Amino acid sequence: MAQVLPSPGVESHPFHQTTKKRDVSSFSPATPSLLYHYKHQLSTPSPNISKDPSDMIDIRSSETSLLDTLDTQTLSSLTQHTGEKSFPSLLLWDEKGQSLYDSILATPYYYPYRVENALLQKQISHIATPIASSTTDILVELGAGNLSKTALLLTALDRCLDSCSQRPGTGKIVYYALDVDRSLLESSLKQLRKRTALKNIELRSLLGTYEDGARWLSQPDLAPYRKTMVWLGNSIANFEKEEASALLTKFTSQNGMQNLAGFLLGVDGCLDEEKVEKAYNAPGGENRRWVLHALEAAGEQLELGPDSLEGGDMFDEKNWRFEGRWDSERQRYENYLIPVKKLEAVVHSKEEGEKKKVVLEEGEKVFVLGSGKWTARDVQTICEKGPGLGLRRSWHSEGDDYGVYWLQPGKKRFDSGIEMDDDDGDDDDDEF
Ligand SMILES: C[S@@+](CC[C@H](N)C(=O)[O-])C[C@H]1O[C@@H](n2cnc3c(N)ncnc32)[C@H](O)[C@@H]1O
Repeated sequence: MAQVLPSPGVESHPFHQTTKKRDVSSFSPATPSLLYHYKHQLSTPSPNISKDPSDMIDIRSSETSLLDTLDTQTLSSLTQHTGEKSFPSLLLWDEKGQSLYDSILATPYYYPYRVENALLQKQISHIATPIASSTTDILVELGAGNLSKTALLLTALDRCLDSCSQRPGTGKIVYYALDVDRSLLESSLKQLRKRTALKNIELRSLLGTYEDGARWLSQPDLAPYRKTMVWLGNSIANFEKEEASALLTKFTSQNGMQNLAGFLLGVDGCLDEEKVEKAYNAPGGENRRWVLHALEAAGEQLELGPDSLEGGDMFDEKNWRFEGRWDSERQRYENYLIPVKKLEAVVHSKEEGEKKKVVLEEGEKVFVLGSGKWTARDVQTICEKGPGLGLRRSWHSEGDDYGVYWLQPGKKRFDSGIEMDDDDGDDDDDEF
């Protein structure tokens, strides 16, 4: 097969002339010449290319990826002297954490998943249209998870591409599911392949964090390719508004990532405290069990357990209680773990090469995870400020609580306020 490798000069790159045939399927890590290309020509960082037949690319950077430094991050967030102590939320997303999260999805109270899913079902052809017409080469889904909503989106996009005569070029879009959980990525992608028969989209996966993804996409070699980001499930709102803005900025040209076609975001804007409380602290204890899992995962990271010399019981569940609370000022539900007695442990710090003491006072709140609830106005502000992304279209659930937003670079285009497409069965697909 003829290889179309990215050349360093963007201007001279054939893909830049949009009337020519595109073939980004040559990104496949299984392609030997590309393996060579990645290993030998990329300067920073050099992704570890997996020869995994499932087409997974391991994009973690061993020095900086949160996935590889989770032990150090856990220790420093539990020993910091200023501000609130915390558990890195990534502790919740190992294999066991994912299955505990699935049990939350199965409760009747956890509305965000169902509402977003229903909205996508209803509006999917409208949602897929701007992606199809944005001449995207690469579609990356952040925190892709079980890919069940993805199947819907890709099927609609594939159909759109079939009928999109105005789309320049005839090459396929390459879809990458990015997540931190290897086994989840493998099983979800397998399922996705079974459930879909896509003619215009190839499926791959990226193992790494959001930051790893931003760095991977910013490689000069990928500069000529048009990129669309998909981030569903209200995961962006696990960050504080300022952090979310900063993270989005990493996927823009301000951070060296060229050719961003657009960002599709799924964001929950429900400000009904009672409804949120039930969803995030269900009577069956599903959320509590998931958040408490951070203890087991932290114990594994810090190698603390019954055999440890000092403080082996620090992360024993019986020494902790869960507390969830709605913070109306921050518009987010916050999950904490709180020691029921003073806890002390001595941990070997790999970073500093010495032993470090962890002391947690009785009743001291340790933050685990937050889930923000952002209105369309909030989303617009977060995306404009810093990332410079302008809101082009949005689709909303009944009552306007949940929004799916299509954003593109260029914040100055729409100054006249927000118009929204309601989930009212009306097929209007207004641009504003
Ligand atoms: C709330 S689930 C959403 C899954 C899916 N997008 C959906 O809408 O159903 C969050 C997903 O993000 C992944 N995740 C969490 N933190 C991450 C990080 N820092 N980098 C990459 N993925 C992350 C988790 O493993 C999990 O699969």
